[in-house]
Amino acid sequence: MLTTSTRSSSTFCCREMSYEAGQEWPMMTCLVLLLIFIAKFIYGKKKKNGRCRMPPGRRGWPLVGDSFNWYNAVSSSHPPRFVEQQIKRFGTIFSCSLFGKWAVVSADPIFNRFVMQNEGKLFQSSYPKSFRDLVGKNGVITLQGHHHRRLHAISSNLMRFDKLRFHFLNDIQLIMIQTLNNLQHNQVILLQDVCRKVAINQMANQLLGVSSECEINEMAQLFSDFVDGCLSLPINFPGFTYHTAMKAREKIISKIKKTIDKHRQPAGSAQVSNGVLGRLLEEESLPDETISDFIINLLFAGNETTAKTMLFAVFFLNQCPRALNQLLEEQQGLTSNEMLTWQDYKAMPFTQCVIDETLRIGGIAIWLMREAKEDVTYQDYVIPKGCFVVPFLSAVHLDENLYHDALTFNPWRWMDPEIQEKRSWRNSPFYSPFGGGARFCPGAELARLQIALFLHYFLIKYRWSQLKEDRMSFFPSARLVNGFQIRLMRRHEHMKSSD
Ligand code: HEM
Repeated sequence: MLTTSTRSSSTFCCREMSYEAGQEWPMMTCLVLLLIFIAKFIYGKKKKNGRCRMPPGRRGWPLVGDSFNWYNAVSSSHPPRFVEQQIKRFGTIFSCSLFGKWAVVSADPIFNRFVMQNEGKLFQSSYPKSFRDLVGKNGVITLQGHHHRRLHAISSNLMRFDKLRFHFLNDIQLIMIQTLNNLQHNQVILLQDVCRKVAINQMANQLLGVSSECEINEMAQLFSDFVDGCLSLPINFPGFTYHTAMKAREKIISKIKKTIDKHRQPAGSAQVSNGVLGRLLEEESLPDETISDFIINLLFAGNETTAKTMLFAVFFLNQCPRALNQLLEEQQGLTSNEMLTWQDYKAMPFTQCVIDETLRIGGIAIWLMREAKEDVTYQDYVIPKGCFVVPFLSAVHLDENLYHDALTFNPWRWMDPEIQEKRSWRNSPFYSPFGGGARFCPGAELARLQIALFLHYFLIKYRWSQLKEDRMSFFPSARLVNGFQIRLMRRHEHMKSSD
């Protein structure tokens, strides 16, 4: 009998190899049978009880399940082909297996709402440890139960619609102008990078209250390193993105701690500038670690989502000149000369349609991830405790039965009076780009304001021409594969040269 070490030797001759392969067959067969048996045991156990009926679906390969199909589903096409195929075969609620664990995937708007509204009761969000270590275990995203509810209420309150007018409107515009003014006439840019910079600068200003360009740049670099780590392989070793992100997290926390200390000095609150952190210190009493994780959670949740929506809005408008012209006309027709007022913001009906259509078709938050806390009965099905549950939001948003010509960017669809009920993104089961239930996005109104103001300043300042073909991809998150390369032209320079 050949030993393992001999078998792995690279100096093996062909004859020996074929002899060895023959020897291995019975062992390989046994191994495969064993794997199939284990998989059947794991999955079969859940079906033993006749009452327990999982939604229909397929098991995929033993152990890895449908993970590869899932990868293809989210990376290659929109709406995901794998999900479409499963819906055709099994219906809008189907099961598959991901990384050896059962998952129930849903493109059913009513079931999705049921899952979101039962957050903390029947279902709960679940994240890997590496992610929790990075965003912090005391933040609103990772906490559960009453701790979560408290922080969710605080964050919703800090970014409420009526607070935007006093606390955010002017600051957003100042930072927007400051950031966009750095772009030159005829400069070639990747719009993806510019939107990221805009969103990060906004976060540094709004969360920590810093406003000098130098301080913003310093924080923006740390924020950028941190956000990169959230989507990287969790290898905490020098040279790896995740490690850099952990270091950035430490530095951000130290900056937050310094601000907290300043606030605690006599007459300290007067020294602490505005921003969510300043208001949090004024209005709430939370332990220091909770405050740090709170801010870092907002940074993670609010940055990429807002940057991508800005990018996709311009990308879609670029493909639809009629919508671009109508949007520009609306923005140029606003009354204010320099800075926009609250009245201006409320007088942008078409801009709001563009934002809604971008969120519908852009799939920024493609799906949510939940875990069943107990055996959950829904209609004829029983979803076993521990099973993943995936409300696939973008499959609903792109459903032809709900949206005519669903893959076409058509902002005018939102003007139809009949669609108004569907459009109410706070509670509509058919349109939920900001989630729903107890984890409904607390930054939704702020994000919409930022996107509207970005469109305003970008469109009235610049024209552009696209230099490279582009398309959307959805892995590891929604993006444009070439970053949308364009040449910028300042509108007034453009007018001068065409005179
Ligand atoms: C277009 C931009 C945005 C989109 C599409 C978006 C989407 C979402 C969605 C779908 C969820 C629910 C996640 C879940 O149920 O698991 C969520 C949660 C959250 N969002 Fe947003 N978001 C955006 C911008 C923002 C901004 C600007 C902030 C804050 C600065 C923010 C802060 C949060 C937080 C803290 C949560 C977690 C809430 C919780 O777990 O209780 N988001 N967002």
